[in-house]
Amino acid sequence: MPPKTGLSKLFAVAFIVLTAAAIAGMVAMLIVYKTQIAEMNPTPRPTMPSTTMAPPPAMRLPRNLLPESYNIFIQLQLYIKIIEEVNVTSPNQTLLFSGNSTVHFHCVERTSRIYLHSNGPTVSAPRLIDKDTNELVKIDRYLHHEDESHFLELQLSEYLEAGRNYSLFLAFEGEMSENLEALYVSKYVESRFLAATNLEPTNARSLFPCFDEPDFKAVFYLTVIHRLETTALSNAPVSVSNIIDEEWKYTRFMATPRMSSYLLAFTVSEFTATDSPNSRITYSRPEATAAGHAVYAAKMTPKILEFYENHFDLRYPMKTLDQIALTDLEPLAMENWGLITYQEGALLYQEGVSSWLHKEDIVHIISHELAHQWFGNLVTMKWWNEVWLNEGFASYMSYLAVDNAEPSFQIKDTMIMSDLHSAFEEDALTSSHPLSTPLEEVQTTSQILGMFDAISYSKGAMVLRMLADFAMIIGILIGLVLFSQVRQEKGVFSIGTLMEKWTTQMGYPVITINTTNGEIHQKHFLYNNSTFCSSLFSLWWLIPIRYATKSSSPSLVWLDVRGPGNITTQQHKKLNYWILANVNCTGYYRVNYDPDNWQRLMTQLETNPNRIPLMNRGQLVDDAFNLARAELVNVTLALNSTRFLRHETAYLPWESAVRNLEYFVLMFDRSEVYGPMQVYLREQVKELYNFFRNYTDNSTVPEDHSLQHNQIIAIDVACSNGLPECIEMARSKFAGWMKSNDTNDIHTNLRAVIYCQAVAAGDKKEWEFAWEKFQSSTDTSEKDQLRKALACTKKTWLLSRYLEYTLDPDKIRLMDVASTVYFIAQNAAGQALAWNFIRANWDYVSQG
Ligand SMILES: *[C@@H]1O[C@H](CO)[C@@H](O)[C@H](O)[C@H]1NC(C)=O
Ligand SMILES: *[C@@H]1O[C@H](CO)[C@@H](O)[C@H](O)[C@H]1NC(C)=O
Ligand SMILES: *[C@@H]1O[C@H](CO)[C@@H](O)[C@H](O)[C@H]1NC(C)=O
Ligand SMILES: *[C@@H]1O[C@H](CO)[C@@H](O)[C@H](O)[C@H]1NC(C)=O
Ligand SMILES: *[C@@H]1O[C@H](CO)[C@@H](O)[C@H](O)[C@H]1NC(C)=O
Ligand SMILES: *[C@@H]1O[C@H](CO)[C@@H](O)[C@H](O)[C@H]1NC(C)=O
Ligand SMILES: *[C@@H]1O[C@H](CO)[C@@H](O)[C@H](O)[C@H]1NC(C)=O
Ligand SMILES: *[C@@H]1O[C@H](CO)[C@@H](O)[C@H](O)[C@H]1NC(C)=O
Ligand SMILES: *[C@@H]1O[C@H](CO)[C@@H](O)[C@H](O)[C@H]1NC(C)=O
Ligand SMILES: *[C@@H]1O[C@H](CO)[C@@H](O)[C@H](O)[C@H]1NC(C)=O
Ligand SMILES: *[C@@H]1O[C@H](CO)[C@@H](O)[C@H](O)[C@H]1NC(C)=O
Ligand SMILES: [Zn+2]
Repeated sequence: MPPKTGLSKLFAVAFIVLTAAAIAGMVAMLIVYKTQIAEMNPTPRPTMPSTTMAPPPAMRLPRNLLPESYNIFIQLQLYIKIIEEVNVTSPNQTLLFSGNSTVHFHCVERTSRIYLHSNGPTVSAPRLIDKDTNELVKIDRYLHHEDESHFLELQLSEYLEAGRNYSLFLAFEGEMSENLEALYVSKYVESRFLAATNLEPTNARSLFPCFDEPDFKAVFYLTVIHRLETTALSNAPVSVSNIIDEEWKYTRFMATPRMSSYLLAFTVSEFTATDSPNSRITYSRPEATAAGHAVYAAKMTPKILEFYENHFDLRYPMKTLDQIALTDLEPLAMENWGLITYQEGALLYQEGVSSWLHKEDIVHIISHELAHQWFGNLVTMKWWNEVWLNEGFASYMSYLAVDNAEPSFQIKDTMIMSDLHSAFEEDALTSSHPLSTPLEEVQTTSQILGMFDAISYSKGAMVLRMLADFAMIIGILIGLVLFSQVRQEKGVFSIGTLMEKWTTQMGYPVITINTTNGEIHQKHFLYNNSTFCSSLFSLWWLIPIRYATKSSSPSLVWLDVRGPGNITTQQHKKLNYWILANVNCTGYYRVNYDPDNWQRLMTQLETNPNRIPLMNRGQLVDDAFNLARAELVNVTLALNSTRFLRHETAYLPWESAVRNLEYFVLMFDRSEVYGPMQVYLREQVKELYNFFRNYTDNSTVPEDHSLQHNQIIAIDVACSNGLPECIEMARSKFAGWMKSNDTNDIHTNLRAVIYCQAVAAGDKKEWEFAWEKFQSSTDTSEKDQLRKALACTKKTWLLSRYLEYTLDPDKIRLMDVASTVYFIAQNAAGQALAWNFIRANWDYVSQG
């Protein structure tokens, strides 16, 4: 009988998701998940107990002991408030915590050593009990491995026997982190504190000794002992909360579902609740709650959760769902099962202060984290080398959820393009890696952290989107045939094989279409292939290419490895029509054409752009620039691809052009290109600027979200390329604010760009006003906008001083340091400064 583990259960869950979602047209996607997860089935264990002592494992825990549950007690000494009054002697703040944990585990292979993880806290008083006989098992000694394995090894004087159950008690004592790791302290406002955890990927071991690998799923029972005036939250609902004495109380939580250790979380704070139906609660600072900043998040959460429940046909399994807006957290948010943590700015919306567009970020982040409650928490990758299964699915699902929750925002296309471009950018470098990276390359914590990159998030989502689209084309019937072929694992045309090249091989193809003879072929796209041996790469198996011509609606061809494919070209050759491949950018590849077709496409863009789908209008520009960067097309062609923007009012093409031109300018000798480029862009943006002028001058914005984005681009491009009426507008609006020193009449959408442009056009006076407002403001959104604007000045001495300020955590919060330095590096005047600064202060900058 195979040992009972959480893994077989996982497999069953994946299967449920699979059948339900097939109906939703996602057969292919979930087959992928299933085939990937199929590997999680435990391999049969040796039937004969080994008698010789196995050598100690290097980095991964042995699979001979499987944790079933943990019972954890943690006491935090932290004070939430330090009162500074004349007559009150304040206690000194203390970061100490202590506790104990009992892990109940099952032995599947005879051993006299126990390995688990512990990193940081001092461990003491081990006690091991054979649960079947209730007898103590003698422990000879225990020791920490002083290496990156973070192993705590217990050497026993007798053997643990396969098939029996044991429990191990350990006491521990440690100090809270001040660097946002593991259990950490966050200081906010004046002398107020909170405690929070952030355990992904390998920080659970810094809180308590545990089997800290994602497939060692277990049930967690947590009890937190904390000071009276505070509230403790954790994954599961509270089971009991009682006062112990005049100083302490304890909160005991119910059992969590079986889950990975990195998903454990708790917080201790004085935060208050904003309720939504069904115990979906959003916590934030009392002031923020009172001011209603969590209302938007609280409104969207049930909507998004319900969407997923319907879509997966699988209920959210926990009784409660808490979300908390922490004053410090790195990354932006963490999907802990039942207690999702967010940076304040990622969850709170301030009416009248936050940009209207900030709602897009909030709904996007909530959608991503809620998707993890299924993809990631319920079904988990076996090891971190496949973290893309968590992150890619969550990112992909968030497109659907956001579109469902806020259809009027129309941000699905924008989100997709943004993911597509970050994936394309990183995946065209020889330093990229496959979605599923070989196990041996992901062992240490820093290697694991390296997996949380644009490849796992964005490429993961893009490859899944391509598959979902493909599944919809061929329909459920064929999907079912494929399904059986995946089972046979021999099907030539199986999705498993199709998918494999995309998940086990890094990079992506560029498809070249020659409309003269109709030939298409593929090759690996790289920015720099001069040293790269592309023969190491096999071609991508089958590439679905949807293409449209001027006269026809989209059709599909398959490009496979057998040789150059063919698109029938007689008709459009005769009529001199263009071909557009990769309609709506559903394929994860770039497209190149023969120069004549490029020319025909550009003519179309300049005469009637609406004949080309919106996403492709952006993508043509992006492809042209990147093909030029890889020296596959002439730079002139790339620049010409932006000509049509003169009459374009849509956001995506402009976003694409601005991003690529910025890079282009950076890459070339500034003195040579910068001047003419400014003149060109100033001309191109005039019409767009005037299109929004009635809104901008009046500090109002259009209704449509995508136009709202483009209004900001218009101001940004116009002002930074020196359009006089734009600079004048920014100056006078900012001056108005400085003069009143209080009422800010600038529309919240436009504040970030106007602050930035006014600071850029201004001098010390403007900068210092912005700095003073930054320091005195308590509004997260306003602070973020000002922090970014301060990096826009053209004065290097102000930028140097600003860089110095980032070293003072009272001026710039630790979690904001890296992004602030990045903003400065984005500014041409600050690039060199920022680079020197990073070199000199790397340790500090990199800890946030
Ligand atoms: C502090 O103590 C002094 C004398 O003990 C008393 O006069 C004063 O009112 C106290 N101040 C406060 C704020 O309690
Ligand atoms: C706080 O710490 C200071 C010095 O570290 C010490 O002198 C003082 O007595 C402490 N106060 C309390 C209330 O523990
Ligand atoms: C574990 O810690 C809790 C809380 O401090 C305490 O009540 C309990 O007795 C401890 N367990 C053992 C076995 O010492
Ligand atoms: C291309 O690769 C070579 C060899 O690694 C390197 O010397 C060169 O700088 C690279 N070029 C670019 C543009 O990255
Ligand atoms: C890239 O490699 C191909 C052959 O693999 C070669 O034809 C092409 O010129 C190379 N491009 C650059 C920019 O080195
Ligand atoms: C492309 O996307 C647009 C808008 O997202 C949609 O209306 C259109 O039907 C899509 N076209 C195809 C061929 O999928
Ligand atoms: C396209 O095909 C024609 C005819 O075979 C050939 O002359 C031309 O060089 C090809 N163009 C490209 C860019 O490969
Ligand atoms: C790019 O195209 C322009 C005009 O078609 C031509 O003058 C120029 O020489 C080309 N540059 C390169 C590097 O091929
Ligand atoms: C500006 O706003 C005011 C008040 O809302 C309105 O009366 C006026 O017509 C607007 N001006 C323009 C040019 O839209
Ligand atoms: C802008 O406002 C002016 C005056 O109210 C009006 O004449 C003009 O048509 C408006 N322009 C646009 C693009 O709405
Ligand atoms: C502006 O207002 C702030 C408080 O909002 C105050 O601290 C500051 O001194 C004022 N500055 C001027 C120039 O009035
Ligand atoms: Zn995620």
